Amino acid sequence: MAQFVVEYGKSGTAPPAPDGRLDAPAFHRNHAPIWDALKGFLALHSGDVLEIGSGTGQHIATYAGWAPQLTWWPSDIFDSHLSSIAAWRRQAACDNLRAPQRIDLTDPAWRWSPGGPLTAMLCFNVLHISPWIVAQNLISGAARLLTADGKLFVYGPFMRDGTHTAPSNAAFDASLRAQNPAWGLRDVRDLAALAAAGGLALAETIDMPANNQVLVFARPARQN
Ligand SMILES: C[S@@+](CC[C@H](N)C(=O)[O-])C[C@H]1O[C@@H](n2cnc3c(N)ncnc32)[C@H](O)[C@@H]1O
Repeated sequence: MAQFVVEYGKSGTAPPAPDGRLDAPAFHRNHAPIWDALKGFLALHSGDVLEIGSGTGQHIATYAGWAPQLTWWPSDIFDSHLSSIAAWRRQAACDNLRAPQRIDLTDPAWRWSPGGPLTAMLCFNVLHISPWIVAQNLISGAARLLTADGKLFVYGPFMRDGTHTAPSNAAFDASLRAQNPAWGLRDVRDLAALAAAGGLALAETIDMPANNQVLVFARPARQN
């Protein structure tokens, strides 16, 4: 069963390195498969990419090196994570990786700095460890900020049509809800409905290792 981490460096997870860098063991398993799902779009586009809930900062620091034509903007809510992202950024030394900023998706009026249209938004492993309002504000923010052909990539474990895709996901969901009744695996169907109501569409679902999925949201195709 997947383990959940609310704040890296606490509750049994490895403490930060002296410079503040935190390490998420799952990053080492999942960053390459996630990139394989994203690179068909990200490797071919330029512009700005905002990540919500960057955590340790390892994904964005790696991807900034792999797609130098994009400008990458990390964010999180915890000071410890913002420090870790800043430390990974120093180590990566990529000109196209910007300083982390605090963005809390429980705020319906959330903004990113400096603002403007986004080529892509990334949100990995966040929606099951936060209340539903975070999913609502993620989708509404993407509808507000994405360029006409921009995409929102959401990665994590999800339910499908009211059913868990694996017993381990059901057990993970139960452990999350026991910790906080507002948390838990979200259903792809509910996220698709949220997107449709907000002017986006669920364009693609990509099965990933360990019963995870990448959900790709975009503006709906024009009907002629
Ligand atoms: C399990 S960690 C995943 C971190 C990273 N995306 C990854 O996949 O390794 C969940 C992240 O969501 C962030 N988070 C939780 N609630 C949030 C909120 N309301 N707004 C933005 N980020 C949030 C946490 O601070 C944490 O970094």
